[in-house]
Amino acid sequence: MNDKINALLRRVEEFSPETAAAVEEFRIKMLGKKGELNALLEEFKSVAPEYKREYGQKINALKNRAMERVNALKEQFAASVTPTESAGDMTRPASSDDDAGSRHPISIVRNQITDIFARLGYTIAEGPEIEDDRHVFGALNFPPEHPARDMQDTFFIEKLPDILLRTHTSSIQVRTMERQQPPIRVVCPGRVFRNEAISYRAHCIFHQVEGLYIDRGVSFADMKQSILYFAKEMFGEQAVIRMRPSYFPFTEPSAEVDVSCNLCGGKGCNVCKGTGWLEIMGCGMVDPNVLEECGIDSEKYSGFAFGMGVERIAMLKYGVKDLRLYFENDVRFLRQFESAL
Ligand code: DAH
Repeated sequence: MNDKINALLRRVEEFSPETAAAVEEFRIKMLGKKGELNALLEEFKSVAPEYKREYGQKINALKNRAMERVNALKEQFAASVTPTESAGDMTRPASSDDDAGSRHPISIVRNQITDIFARLGYTIAEGPEIEDDRHVFGALNFPPEHPARDMQDTFFIEKLPDILLRTHTSSIQVRTMERQQPPIRVVCPGRVFRNEAISYRAHCIFHQVEGLYIDRGVSFADMKQSILYFAKEMFGEQAVIRMRPSYFPFTEPSAEVDVSCNLCGGKGCNVCKGTGWLEIMGCGMVDPNVLEECGIDSEKYSGFAFGMGVERIAMLKYGVKDLRLYFENDVRFLRQFESAL
């Protein structure tokens, strides 16, 4: 009996497992129901009464030592688990320290824009990123020789001259008017593509939100007031806007909208290049040709449209100076943006 106890004790002391599974296997072999210790206790029953005390104490000490070793080894393996292994434990309860992540600043600003217009009764419309010439150019009154149709600006699909990546979300205007009669009030967020060299101020992929409002008797004054409301909601109550005459094939008259620089309060700084104004969007009254092309009676209905770049609005609102930051997904950049939207 004595020899057996000593041999088991040696096995306990010398046990040096390489994995947590080996520790568990050892525990079952030693301390389990059909393990070595229980076998020993079975034998102990037939030990002569005068030896019971001595052997009883020894077996107890062996059991305690075996439990101590198993627990220490288990702890050692648990502590050495790598973070990726522990993240893979789906049964682990969530902790308030866990990083919940945050929305991308472009998503935040896009949601802010559509949310502001939702308060004016606009719903969201979407359309495909791979488009045809009609929806991006033709129905929007772009003449065949217009430079925007050039390969320099537009990504075409090889061997399919009619198919291209949309260069603006105005294509969704066309799709909306084709399937719906006025009143129409939609904002159209989406990703757009242009063949531009990537720099701090240009990218070949970016995001726009287009707006379209068509009904009886919609006027330029309605457009001005809607855009002023948007500017104040986005940049603060002190914001004012101005409109400069411009040209877009699909609107007549057309304008470019500037908002008072929110960084210097209109006094002039390096962001507004000393002018006190920041350009935020293009807009105009929808050209009757476009309405007719999309099956809407231009004698009965009129409306306005506007389009803005989400990266640009985010840049102005948050003072981001390099567009490329939006695409790099560096968490040190992303962590600075938080929003309920
Ligand atoms: N589609 C124009 C662009 O990408 C932006 C734009 C300007 C949209 C005027 C409009 C508008 O709806 O009326 O540059």
